[in-house]
Formats: sequence, structure tokens, C-alpha cells
Amino acid sequence: MAPPTSLLERYRDRLARPGESFPISLGEGGTPLVHARRLGAAIGLDHLYLKFEGTNPSGSFKDRGMVLAVNRALGIGAQMVLCASTGNTSASAAAYAAAAGMTCGVVLPAGKVARGKLAQALAAGARLVMVEGNFDAALEAVRALGEAGDAVVVNSINPDRLEGQQTVAWEIADALDGAPDAVALPVGNAGNITAAWRGFVHVGQRPRMLGFQAAGAAPIVQGAAVPEPETVATAIRIGNPASWEGATTARDDSGGLIESVTDAQILAAQGDIARLEGIFCEPASAAGVAGVRQLAEAGRLDRSTSVVCILTGHGLKDPDTAPGELGDLAPIPATADAIRRAIGA
Ligand code: F0G
Repeated sequence: MAPPTSLLERYRDRLARPGESFPISLGEGGTPLVHARRLGAAIGLDHLYLKFEGTNPSGSFKDRGMVLAVNRALGIGAQMVLCASTGNTSASAAAYAAAAGMTCGVVLPAGKVARGKLAQALAAGARLVMVEGNFDAALEAVRALGEAGDAVVVNSINPDRLEGQQTVAWEIADALDGAPDAVALPVGNAGNITAAWRGFVHVGQRPRMLGFQAAGAAPIVQGAAVPEPETVATAIRIGNPASWEGATTARDDSGGLIESVTDAQILAAQGDIARLEGIFCEPASAAGVAGVRQLAEAGRLDRSTSVVCILTGHGLKDPDTAPGELGDLAPIPATADAIRRAIGA
């Protein structure tokens, strides 16, 4: 029986080096692109689409670049991959390293990683350490270890990561038979906006790239590193993005923008996406939708503009910040009447 075609094989002509093989795949990519009619109506956009990256094998967009980075690390005989992470990179690296039979080292900022992401890295057998300071400090240490030859670093400073992450742009362009007018996404370490833009340029498309940082972690918006970044969207709690220049290039060359949204806007957008479209994404993932709403409400996006928001990760990763109130869940009698009264049917 032939194995299913993997993401890297699907785009082999754009990604592979001569004779290169990609033995590792977890079925990444091929994520849903949903026409968000109800959310679009609420925001005032007729052509709003959601690209839900939460259906990737480890639950985030990171798998697109990780699959290429780990295949290549395996190809050069590396025994160990290493990353700093706000959580999703570590979950992805741990998964692909497990599939490749490699050791995975994970360096996390203490106390600020969502529970689901920690659980994923642990379950896949990653060697996990927490360090004092934030993601930026963790990445600096990991960089030094990579340069010393301790392991292959699989953060987005590894060019294979960004190369693989272009596939999100290719899938969008394939699905819509061209690019939308604009693509909106959260910006943290800024690898994704860099890679997505490159991906579009590679296939001759030029949507406006709309990047959104959390207000408490918005170095690119402010034009200076933020020493103590803070946001409920821990995935993008980053004060000094590694791909800063890539992000500003994407912004400027596409006629786009990088702006900020507050934690309250992010959480409201996360709730709206779940209640109106049935898609549960993590807080950081909702920053793009929050930003698009901000632009539309300010009259800066025409109703007829087509916009794709990339929802970068799954809501199950961060159950502690999930929207909705449990309320009083004291048990009631298991009778039709009691349940009807309680539910308000
Ligand atoms: N959304 C989610 C869910 C993320 O996990 C990240 C980054 C981003 C958006 C921002 O993407 O860094 O390419 O601008 N998470 C990294 C991590 C930093 O370690 O998992 P970016």
C-alpha cells in the first residue's frame, strides 16, 4: 500500500534538494480553510476566511517547518534537536524528534507555558528545562548551544523552518486560486509572517500582510525591544523577535501593517471565533481576527475585501484561558424535567 502523500512530497518541486528524501511525516498541512460567514457578518466583511492550523498533528502551524527541519537534521546524522519555546515549537519539535528517533531538548521560560503544550513535550519524551527570564533569554542560550555544536537548533532561526512554513501560503493560494486581498496573523518571534510572505512571493502573489502583536509585547509596533513582555497570549509573549527584519520586509513590501491589539480584544476574538464559527483556537491565534476587527471598525477595511486569518494553534493547548463560564456545576437529578429546567430548553 502506498503511503499518503505528505506535505513535503506535495510541494517537493519547491522544497526538495536534488535526490532528497523525507522519511518523516506526521500528516502535517492540508488544514481547513473555512469561509467564516457569521464572524464575517459580525465584523463587517463578506469574504472572511479562517485557516485553522490547529488541525496539524501537534496542534499548531509549527509542524509545517518542523517536519522539514527534523528531516534535514536526520539527513545530516544529528542525534539531537534543541529549541527555546513559548510552548508550541517545543510540542512540535518533541513530536517530530520522537518520530525520527532523535533526542529533543526543550528550553522554556519558567511559569508561562500553557499546560497542554507542556504535556505534549513531556509525553513525547523531550528533555525539558525551565529557565529564569523570558523566551528571548531562552532563545539566546539555545543559540549559543547550537553554535557550540551541542545540537541542531530547530527554532525559526533555522532556515529549514521558514522554508517549510511557506506551505501555508501555498495552500491558501491553491485553495482560493490566487491570494486573498489580505492575510492576517499574530506576530511573536516573527518567523511566520516572514515565511508566509516569502511563500506568496514565491508563487507570484502579493496579499497585504497584516501582522498583530499583543499590546504588552509589541516591539515591532513600538520600534524597540520590550524587556519585560506581558500578555495573556503566552505564545507571542516575545520582546525581541528573531525575524524582526523579515517581518518589516513583509509589512513594507506587501503594503501591509503591523499593529497591536489588547489582551481584552484577543480574548473577545477567541470567544467570537468559537461561538460563531465553532473553531476553538488558542489566545495568540485570535490576535489576527482581533486586529482585522479593529481595522474594520475603524473603517480601514472595505466590506468587500477578502481576508484570510491564520489561526495558528489549537484552543485545547491552553485550557486555563479558554472562554466561557463553567457556572454552578453542582449535580442535579438525572431526569428530563430537571435537565430541561437547568439548560433552559
Ligand atoms: N501563534 C502561536 C500559537 C504561536 O505558538 C506562535 C509562536 C505565534 C503565533 C507567533 O509566530 O513566532 O512565527 O511570529 N510560538 C513560538 C513558540 C515562539 O515557541 O512556540 P511567530
